[in-house]
Amino acid sequence: MVHPKLKDMKLDLIVDLFAGIVFIPVIVTSIALFLLPDGKHSGLATLFGVDKVVWTNIHTVTGFLFIALVVIHLVLHYKYIYAIIKR
Ligand code: HEM
Repeated sequence: MVHPKLKDMKLDLIVDLFAGIVFIPVIVTSIALFLLPDGKHSGLATLFGVDKVVWTNIHTVTGFLFIALVVIHLVLHYKYIYAIIKR
């Protein structure tokens, strides 16, 4: 049988690895959005042949996914956080 603590650590590792992987498209698309024009007709703009709306959608979806993973990360460590707060 796997030690229960080890099982927890495996979940932590999966969540953190996933968060790390998802953070890459968040960063890449945020640089793209920073470079792309804004304003009325900026929806027609493209970067590397990819439409602004596609950059935006990938940024928004991966952004929210990243936030969800950070929340899960914090929930998994609530005991540590609580221990520090109550000191
Ligand atoms: C390192 C982290 C991030 C950076 C550097 C970043 C950067 C940017 C930039 C440069 C824009 C374009 C602003 C403009 O139109 O002038 C943007 C838009 C946006 N970001 Fe982020 N972002 C980050 C994380 C996130 C996360 C975590 C979320 C998820 C909640 C998010 C959601 C959005 C949304 C919804 C928009 C508006 C898109 C649109 O309709 O134009 N971002 N971000």
